[in-house]
Amino acid sequence: MGAKDADVDARVRTLGPVLGIETSCDETAAAVVDAGGIRSNVVSSQVPIHRLYGGVVPEIASRHHLELVLPVIDQALAQAQVSLHELAGVAVTNGPGLIGALLVGLAAAKAIAFAADLPLVGVHHLAGHVYANFLAQRELRPPVVCLIVSGGHTELVLLEAHGEFRLLGRTRDDAAGEAFDKIARVLGLPYPGGPALEKLAETGNPHAVPLPRAMMGAEGGLDFSFSGLKTAGLNVLQSAEKPTPADFAASFQQAVVDVCVAKAMKAVESTGVDRLLLAGGVAANRKLRDEMSAACRKQGVELYTPPSSLCTDNAAMIAAAGRYRLARGQTDGWDLDADPNLPLYHAISTVL
Ligand code: KG4
Ligand code: ZN
Repeated sequence: MGAKDADVDARVRTLGPVLGIETSCDETAAAVVDAGGIRSNVVSSQVPIHRLYGGVVPEIASRHHLELVLPVIDQALAQAQVSLHELAGVAVTNGPGLIGALLVGLAAAKAIAFAADLPLVGVHHLAGHVYANFLAQRELRPPVVCLIVSGGHTELVLLEAHGEFRLLGRTRDDAAGEAFDKIARVLGLPYPGGPALEKLAETGNPHAVPLPRAMMGAEGGLDFSFSGLKTAGLNVLQSAEKPTPADFAASFQQAVVDVCVAKAMKAVESTGVDRLLLAGGVAANRKLRDEMSAACRKQGVELYTPPSSLCTDNAAMIAAAGRYRLARGQTDGWDLDADPNLPLYHAISTVL
């Protein structure tokens, strides 16, 4: 850890409460985080609504965010027993995500920050997922290798210093969560598929169905590919001799976990950074957490995982990441825009 990071850590510890707002997909969320940790963390999930359609419908998501965002913010402030003038700033996800959904949270954040004369900070959604770990693990410091596995992203990044990310590898097609969701849908499981597939897998044999693990050779570097696994899985499900749903779910989950563990260990090895954190919705998966933990123990790597409740989308992680931006003296202007493809890295650079 550089001297600069130590200063940032010290400043975060003295910073007042920050309101976080997250509306990038199908959760309307607001939270208050202060130096002592989470004061409130309100998530109003639209999952039951989108479940009717088997996935998130962007226009419906935006409309529900509009209805929910102010009540959710009020609730977060009330539960934290914090008034607007006590806040040190307002942090909001400004990308990546669904443009209409992002704009609702951003407009609310700007209005509140402007009216209460507070600093505004935009937060990258994936930086939020990474910083969920800093809420739970007080001793965590950069540099740390981060495996981000969510519905929209599967990326290995190196957090070199606070707020400074370097890309190590990423999926070339589907994200891990997306693969879970698509396969779960074919199995007739409800949206979102990851948790339902994990439950079904509990009683299955993870070695019952042979499924591919893509890009595991040297040529794959630290990149991922899950579309071949998805297609192979769909072929098995359409074949004459179908496995039991539980065996299939367990085998599919095992294939995703095997790739994630192998790639994360390779990233640790190639960077020489022996600290690894998990982030994003799929990091809630028990099998992934257990197998990653076993691999890390074997290789002497320190593993950090957020509590399951902070793996999926929430605003406490946005407030947490926002606090580090504020502590680094960074704020945004009223022209802050939502960007559905907001990049996490200053410059895209692959180390392998
Ligand atoms: O991070 P997240 O809440 O939203 C995005 O930023 O995408 O991740 C949602 C994804 C979904 O694909 C969901 O199926 C997956 O995370 N997920 C899981 C589990 N819990 C959520 N996947 C596997 N096992 C789980 N327990
Ligand atoms: Zn997310």
